[in-house]
Amino acid sequence: MIPTDKPIGLASDHAGYEIKKYLISLFDAEGIKYTDFGTYSTDSVDYPDFAHKLGAAIDNGECDYGVSVCGTGNGINMALNKHHKVRSALCWNTEVARLVRLHNDANVLTLPGRFVSQKEAYDMVKIFFDTAFEGGRHQNRIDKIPCI
Ligand code: RB5
Repeated sequence: MIPTDKPIGLASDHAGYEIKKYLISLFDAEGIKYTDFGTYSTDSVDYPDFAHKLGAAIDNGECDYGVSVCGTGNGINMALNKHHKVRSALCWNTEVARLVRLHNDANVLTLPGRFVSQKEAYDMVKIFFDTAFEGGRHQNRIDKIPCI
């Protein structure tokens, strides 16, 4: 399922904490390695603080992939995508989660914690990590993403 030997990086704010906690319980049950960059409770926090920890871990090679969650998914997604090696994709159903791997080679799956169920979240995680990048014309497009 997971196309890397490195731990999956996890990050959320308070609004994404419960979904992240649920995903962690399933990762534990399945023996999937992860690093949880916080937050660690439902106390109110600022999502960039945790997005940048995960983003830095991807930039420095500590993690190849991640999952992030905030309320809408947007704030944490915006902050993550400031990192050079991050392609974080906000997903709301399994077909979008599949396409962001196939077409965008997304390396972070970002979820809107206040708008998806636990089951929907885990179904997206499974399909995200089970889907390989298609390459070809999509590689050309990805190569044009960085600002020059
Ligand atoms: C927190 O209330 C909320 O603003 C945050 O989780 C996220 O939705 C921001 O984009």
